[in-house]
Amino acid sequence: MDTEVKIINEEAQGNSILIESPILQNGRKLYIESYGCQMNFSDSEIVASVMAKHGYATTTDQHEADVVLLNTCSIRDKAEQTVRSRLRDFKKKKKEKPNLVIGVLGCMAERLKTQLLDEEKLVDIVAGPDSYRDLPRLVSEVDGGQKAVNVLLSREETYAEISPVRLNSNGITAFISIMRGCDNMCAFCVVPFTRGRERSRNPKSIVKEAQELVAQGYKEVTLLGQNVDSYRWNINNKGEIKDVSKPTTNFSQLMEMVALVSPDLRIRFSTSHPKDMTDDVLHIIAKYENICNYIHLPVQSGSTEVLKRMNRGYTREWYLDRIKAIREIIPGCAISTDIIAGFCGETEKDHNETLSLMEEVQYDYAFNFFYSERPKTLAERKFEDDVTLEVKKRRLAEIIAIQRKSAGKINETTLGKTYKVLVEGFSKKSKEHLFGRNSQNTAIVFPKENYKLGEYVNVKVNNCTTATLLGTALNLT
Ligand code: SAH
Ligand code: SF4
Ligand code: F3S
Repeated sequence: MDTEVKIINEEAQGNSILIESPILQNGRKLYIESYGCQMNFSDSEIVASVMAKHGYATTTDQHEADVVLLNTCSIRDKAEQTVRSRLRDFKKKKKEKPNLVIGVLGCMAERLKTQLLDEEKLVDIVAGPDSYRDLPRLVSEVDGGQKAVNVLLSREETYAEISPVRLNSNGITAFISIMRGCDNMCAFCVVPFTRGRERSRNPKSIVKEAQELVAQGYKEVTLLGQNVDSYRWNINNKGEIKDVSKPTTNFSQLMEMVALVSPDLRIRFSTSHPKDMTDDVLHIIAKYENICNYIHLPVQSGSTEVLKRMNRGYTREWYLDRIKAIREIIPGCAISTDIIAGFCGETEKDHNETLSLMEEVQYDYAFNFFYSERPKTLAERKFEDDVTLEVKKRRLAEIIAIQRKSAGKINETTLGKTYKVLVEGFSKKSKEHLFGRNSQNTAIVFPKENYKLGEYVNVKVNNCTTATLLGTALNLT
């Protein structure tokens, strides 16, 4: 997608930054590739916006790029290896085009800092997640013949007033970052080191972004944070009001504010944290038809012992109580999870407790990983990575097998049911079929007939594969 086109569209919609600052193209093209979580993809849209303001047009064709930015992830060793192999591809490109500027952004940049310049000689820029406003300056430093680094983390930066340039957008669904950083210090996790302290974004700017998206025809937003349940505006981490003359906002209130933007705008959110997810939030989800009935509630392990070592802040029983509350307050709500197999000291008994928890919860989806030790984390400093790779992989395979079984069972219960589906695109296999998702986040494919992208359609399910439901449209909702 070319930013030039987007700029014209957004100006027509009254996008504030573009009005304040008319863009002069500088003739250079920016290519961004994103890895890792949704927050990174959302950040890349901030980067595109900052760069557009300085005249850079975004391109999806890496061959025409003058500046290449890789927005990277450090969550597991494999994520970093993927980026390193991609950098090797760009090494060849740089030989053909010596003026090509190559930058590493995001979590790997923050974790490795200047070390990355020594290890990856072709990299010109290293920019951490809180330094994206500085990118145009960093590029000009490189133009002047230097390497450029900014890895300062901030306690305040939320990029609140920057209207993101939507990259690879279907024009229907979009991300809105509501907070940055994480204060939780789960023992296995690198995020607090790469993203810094937790801070929430001004709720007014979040609502404004949702309103702008609605004006542009978007139908769904996903509110993003590493732990959305600890979103708080004008409230400190002890729960006290910072400025008594001003209103406060917590996550359930924020969701309500966004839900009220338009009944036609669907709201999703990620990630919920079992230790912080309150019944308040569940009641707000139940109250508003446009807040989706889908909660991603990562458990990580079914063993209280392991959870304790992971520093997750809850027990197996607490987690199961949260699941019970979801089932009671939002009947039919889909639930997904993340699970780590083979964390330090995990015994066969601990692993079996994870399996039994999965049997009990019956997750709709699960994102499963084997433990990968990360430098500087609590686990790396305190515990031995003592489960062998072979055992980690075997346990992971058992977790995946259980998940397949419950997803299959859940899919079968959908046969014959009718769901409200937001049409997001065409089926990968055929232009004659549309693809969308129901409130529970399940993908549904159905014959196109005269239905269009962006419409809400009632679809009756008549068949299913492992990950997708197949149906027939009944009518527009
Ligand atoms: N903030 C979210 C998770 C962000 S990271 C939360 O608290 O749930 C996404 C997932 O990656 C985690 O839920 C965890 O399952 C996995 N993960 C994080 N660090 C990992 C590590 N060192 N090894 C393997 N998986 C890890
Ligand atoms: Fe990592 Fe835990 Fe924060 Fe999630 S809550 S980002 S797992 S430290
Ligand atoms: Fe990866 Fe950073 Fe997200 S480590 S998972 S890109 S916060």
